[in-house]
Amino acid sequence: MRVISFILTTCVSLAVASKSPCIELNDGNKMPIVALGTGRGTASENANVDEVRHAVYWAIEAGYRHIDTAAIYFDETQVGQGIADAIANNLVTREELFITTKLWNDKHHREQVVPALKESLQKLGLDYVDLYLIHFPIAVKADGSPDDVDYLETWQGMEEARELGLTRSIGVSNFNASQVDRVIAHSKVCPVVNQIEVNPTNTQEELVAHCQERGVAVMAYSPFGFLVSRNKPNAPPPRADDPVLVEMAKKYKKTTSQIVLRYLIDRGLVPVPKSANKNRIVQNIDLFDFSLTPEEVQQINKFNKNVRVIHPVHLKDYPNYPFWE
Ligand SMILES: NC(=O)c1ccc[n+]([C@@H]2O[C@H](COP(=O)([O-])OP(=O)(O)OC[C@H]3O[C@@H](n4cnc5c(N)ncnc54)[C@H](OP(=O)(O)O)[C@@H]3O)[C@@H](O)[C@H]2O)c1
Ligand SMILES: *[C@@H]1O[C@H](CO)[C@@H](O)[C@H](O)[C@H]1NC(C)=O
Repeated sequence: MRVISFILTTCVSLAVASKSPCIELNDGNKMPIVALGTGRGTASENANVDEVRHAVYWAIEAGYRHIDTAAIYFDETQVGQGIADAIANNLVTREELFITTKLWNDKHHREQVVPALKESLQKLGLDYVDLYLIHFPIAVKADGSPDDVDYLETWQGMEEARELGLTRSIGVSNFNASQVDRVIAHSKVCPVVNQIEVNPTNTQEELVAHCQERGVAVMAYSPFGFLVSRNKPNAPPPRADDPVLVEMAKKYKKTTSQIVLRYLIDRGLVPVPKSANKNRIVQNIDLFDFSLTPEEVQQINKFNKNVRVIHPVHLKDYPNYPFWE
């Protein structure tokens, strides 16, 4: 059994190391701890995709070195433009960046994986990504109906993409504990990452421990949970003005959003906060001059209700649906 060591290592550029520390993945590659989210599936469903180009540029300017995108976000072109702008203005080099993208559910047949990644690379304007993830363990046909493809077959396509140098590392997303174990047991290459939803209302303590014990780093999507508006008036606490979080925010002179991101980092996770607002982009990486005590981390864990922000119930009856309900 491989055990991950959450050693904070410096990334390529020392100048930004304080804003962008890394963890070491189980294949030896280094991944910056905070990733800018670019997915638009939640609060800003109607957002203008062009805003992503600016968000990516502002993020790199603010010290982010990790950008998270996916084929299904239909924003890889804009992500690529933001990256190209930043490189053209000498903010960074390609080598200093860590770019993650994801394979969508309708490309799960082994022979579809490499072409799907090549299409993403073309949109991104890149020769390689740093991390390629299977977005969901569920396979669908082009018309959206269930397809019976074992994700172990998909994983073989991921291994081929890695061997071709199209991606430096490969991982999974939305896989449950048994699915992670099956990939580890039956594959040549161990996933480096499982990207799952983690936030104060969905703390995922068991699945996080399960992955970390096996050397699989966990990226935390929808990190703010219901702190931010999700158009769900009956969503459980905490909200941004929750007294427990407000007290911690006062103590550390931070916002409650920053408290929640730091809580995830202090659990050894890599949060993926999405913002298209320059000030909030800056705020969401200003996390490396304080840390929570173990007691404060426990206090936030107590909010857990196992309630998901991302709840794709329409896929519930599809093979390999990873969630309980
Ligand atoms: N693997 C998967 O299946 C999966 C699923 C969902 C998401 N993801 C990834 O994870 C990323 C984040 O998830 P998410 O978009 O669901 O949720 P999130 O990052 O938890 O929340 C985003 C929302 O919070 C607001 N916000 C950002 N920073 C804030 C701050 N400091 N204070 C107050 N509000 C703030 C944003 O608005 P503004 O933009 O106006 O700041 C936006 O409405 C996605 O973009 C995507 O990259 C992956
Ligand atoms: C993971 O998902 C599979 C497929 O739906 C299911 O059979 C299995 O029980 C789930 N395992 C866990 C630990 O939730």
